[in-house]
Amino acid sequence: MTGATPSRRTIISGFAALPMAACGQKSKSQDLPTPVDPPPLKSLAPFPFGCAVSVERLSDPVYSALLTRNFSQLTAEWEMKMEYILQDDGSFRFDRPDRIAAFARDNRMRLFGHTLVWYAQDPAAFRPFDGRGPVFAGALRNYILAVVGRYRGQAVGWDVVNEPVAEQGDGLRDCLWSRNLGQVDYIRRAFDYAREADPEVPLLINDYNLESLPAKRSQFMRLVETLLKSGTPLGGIGTQSHIDVSLPAGAIGRSMRDLASFGLPIHISELDISLNRGRGPLSSDEQLRVRQVRLAKEMAEAFAALPPAQRFAFTTWGLRDKDSWLRGPKENPTPPWDAPLLFDDDGRAKPVFSAQAEGLTASAALRRPSA
Ligand code: GLA
Repeated sequence: MTGATPSRRTIISGFAALPMAACGQKSKSQDLPTPVDPPPLKSLAPFPFGCAVSVERLSDPVYSALLTRNFSQLTAEWEMKMEYILQDDGSFRFDRPDRIAAFARDNRMRLFGHTLVWYAQDPAAFRPFDGRGPVFAGALRNYILAVVGRYRGQAVGWDVVNEPVAEQGDGLRDCLWSRNLGQVDYIRRAFDYAREADPEVPLLINDYNLESLPAKRSQFMRLVETLLKSGTPLGGIGTQSHIDVSLPAGAIGRSMRDLASFGLPIHISELDISLNRGRGPLSSDEQLRVRQVRLAKEMAEAFAALPPAQRFAFTTWGLRDKDSWLRGPKENPTPPWDAPLLFDDDGRAKPVFSAQAEGLTASAALRRPSA
């Protein structure tokens, strides 16, 4: 983690600040304290706090001040993906990834690499190699060597393969990569190439809906087992955690316990809690916000309860609500507007911030030896 690990005193004072903050302002419900002058998120527990970012936003001083105050790790929301780096003619474009890396360095933040191979992206540059096994594999190797090699020594981890499990968990994805290199073999190869590029960096596999779909989680875990048995250099598990307010109580804890059973570090890699996606016909806005707060606390507690060596990082998929992908593209925002993140459009910490902070600090403090 960048910067000093917070002392017990920091954690306790951060924790103590929460009820005080709760006295400041109330949202409509008595149960939802809006924090006033909240402590920086990254000071509340001794593990990295990540945030998804884009170059465009980093140049906004208001945004970057809030970001650097609260977070200790960055993930590029999309500018380190193949879609951006690999151009149609096969050349590489590193301008924006380099700017994100420089921002992280300048602000003593960790840089997390996301992502090398993703079923959803099959760039034109690979088309000439389609159906030509060894040449296709060689092109993938070149890409991974170039990207991982460029950030070697700075990146603290990579999502090597993103979303390998089929939507409902009934198998693995059928995609350009699997058709050319084999359903499990494309994954193994991607990990081997990444390891070749950087012998030290933790290599992760990342997927979503692992909390809400037990069948998908089982399939994901079978894949992890297969990879580990075959000696693939898999060093961690990413659970995206794009959840919504309809997720039942207890689902997060069950998922976390299952995923942690391999003993590998866990990355909550893309957390957001959608209000709109879990909106039932009868739910009021207030009910949705109460459920969001409950889930944020549950997620934080489940992560903080992991053994310290398994807490890779806790990453939020965006800073303010208006930065969220769930709002849709800037030119065409999706109504009704969602509010899935910790800070509102104006950068004020929301009740969900207090809930997450409380979950993190309570569990983290409990697990620390007394001073
Ligand atoms: C997936 C990907 C992310 C991002 C989100 C939507 O979860 O892993 O990189 O594209 O979708 O923002």
